[in-house]
Amino acid sequence: MYLRNSWYVGAWSHELTRKPFQRFLLDEPLVFYRTESGKPVVLDDRCIHRFAPLSAGCLEGDNIVCGYHGFTYAPNGNCIAIPGVDRAPKKAGVKSYPVVEKWGWIWVWMGNEEKADEAKIPDFHYLDDPEWAGKGETLNLKCAYNLVYENLLDLTHAKFVHKTTLATNDVTEFPLEIEEVGDTVVARREMSGIKSSPLFTRAGGFTEPVDHRQHVIFTPPCYISINTTVKSAEASSENKIADIRILNALTPETSKTTNYFWSLVRCFALDDEEMETFLHEANTFAFSEDKAIIEQQQNMWDTVPDAKPIPFPHDKGVIASDRLMRRLMTEE
Ligand code: FES
Ligand SMILES: [Fe+2]
Repeated sequence: MYLRNSWYVGAWSHELTRKPFQRFLLDEPLVFYRTESGKPVVLDDRCIHRFAPLSAGCLEGDNIVCGYHGFTYAPNGNCIAIPGVDRAPKKAGVKSYPVVEKWGWIWVWMGNEEKADEAKIPDFHYLDDPEWAGKGETLNLKCAYNLVYENLLDLTHAKFVHKTTLATNDVTEFPLEIEEVGDTVVARREMSGIKSSPLFTRAGGFTEPVDHRQHVIFTPPCYISINTTVKSAEASSENKIADIRILNALTPETSKTTNYFWSLVRCFALDDEEMETFLHEANTFAFSEDKAIIEQQQNMWDTVPDAKPIPFPHDKGVIASDRLMRRLMTEE
């Protein structure tokens, strides 16, 4: 069901403090905290004694103390003290997960520790690139994570789901091109001479037809980058351009729930706070519309778990991602 040998986004950097908290990733309960020097720590959140959550305990220096009977764990997961026992048992402890803090996200390796390689973290440098500005947040969705990346791989839904923000009415009239580059799927749609979406009309100030280019890049197991460039069409007397990236990490919380980390960044109007608020609010609203339809879709899918969906031409990205994920899971 999951690709284990992968990095998953567990949290935003700002969420990790000296106060431990619990979050499920891939059905596993994990506890997140920082050491005194600020290093992120991610451990199995089940005390070895009687399985109380360590996140309900407290920190003593860099160690975490179970809040039930005081078993104490080092950041590497080793149990180093048991109250009333002279020496803690050798080799007892909880699993500690490889973790990397990068671009404002906390990346957790959920598979075989020996295979954890920082170079395999997908490229999300836009999150803290000074040439780009923006912000994001986390949504919790009551659906499987694949339904979310499949939603982002078929943007024709914008016409029906996001009528007041992202919709371009012509989206269904332009073909989708799919390219598989290494272990990624790139879905491209180039729409020329169209009316711009409500969001881009406001963000880019377009009043005349535009060329709207969408590149959606799926990187397994759960990453989508939506690269959108809108510029005045050739026939237009305007000469404007607006470029945004919507960066999405869809971390399975359980098999039927997803923590959806997203950020919208732009490379124009970098110091314009009003622009930032507008884009953030518009996207937050649009994603609440996605949440509503996908959670209902999950409920219906659950009533026919073995049924096969009907493919249509705008689904090509979804089908390619499904094929890629099945191949990678088989290989793993
Ligand atoms: S359950 Fe943690 S010390 Fe008892
Ligand atoms: Fe959407």
